[in-house]
Amino acid sequence: FGRTVEYYDVVDSTNIKAKRLAEEGAASGTLVVADCQNAGRGRRGKGWVSPSGKNVFMSLILRPDILPGSASMLTLVAALAVSDGIKKETGLDTSIKWPNDIVASGKKLCGILTEMSAELEGIHYVVVGIGINVNMEEFPEEVRLMATSLCMETGNKVRRSSLIASIMESMERYYEEFISQGDLSGLISVYNSRMVNAGRDVKILDSAGGYTGKALGINEKGELLVEMQSGEVKHVISGEVSVRGL
Ligand code: BTN
Repeated sequence: FGRTVEYYDVVDSTNIKAKRLAEEGAASGTLVVADCQNAGRGRRGKGWVSPSGKNVFMSLILRPDILPGSASMLTLVAALAVSDGIKKETGLDTSIKWPNDIVASGKKLCGILTEMSAELEGIHYVVVGIGINVNMEEFPEEVRLMATSLCMETGNKVRRSSLIASIMESMERYYEEFISQGDLSGLISVYNSRMVNAGRDVKILDSAGGYTGKALGINEKGELLVEMQSGEVKHVISGEVSVRGL
């Protein structure tokens, strides 16, 4: 992955750019990288802080031969790859907040936004957008308490190009494992070993309010298994809930 890199100084959003390139036929494995975004997007319609010269904004185009319902698992695959790349380049151990935030010291280092174009029978393309706070030393007021960067965590500036290369190398390995199995079964143990709240009590907030239980880890579909007091195990699907530690 990332052997073909489309680099831009400024884009609206690397996800938007990648979707446009994918529509025009860009090959699976093409990586779109930008120095800065002026309309960086986060999940749930939020924005993403995207100044120039500091962070990583990239979107990977994939064309997996899987059913559309499996595409969200790619986000968990990407989270593993990012945490590997960070470890390799900085030595920092990070955790994954299910399904796909990378955190250190309880604050967010990286967010992932996966989008796809698909029909019932199959996927045209998936764009996995990854934003990593790398060399930023100060955040806007509204995210200051929730956000951190590699530089703030380690005290060192990080070379963005090396970080991107390391992440792509890991991503390719994990992706092959995922595709060969057709699900996350080969990656469950490594994912769970990095998961925030694994084995702990959590509160799941959903549209109906919420409930508490013990987070057991993910299953092969990337669902979070939560054991209720009654012993019943709920399968929590990403996108519909928010998980809080207790
Ligand atoms: C989140 O809300 O946690 C997801 C944030 C995803 C941000 C990245 S930055 C690169 C790519 N382009 C975007 O506009 N968003 C993603």
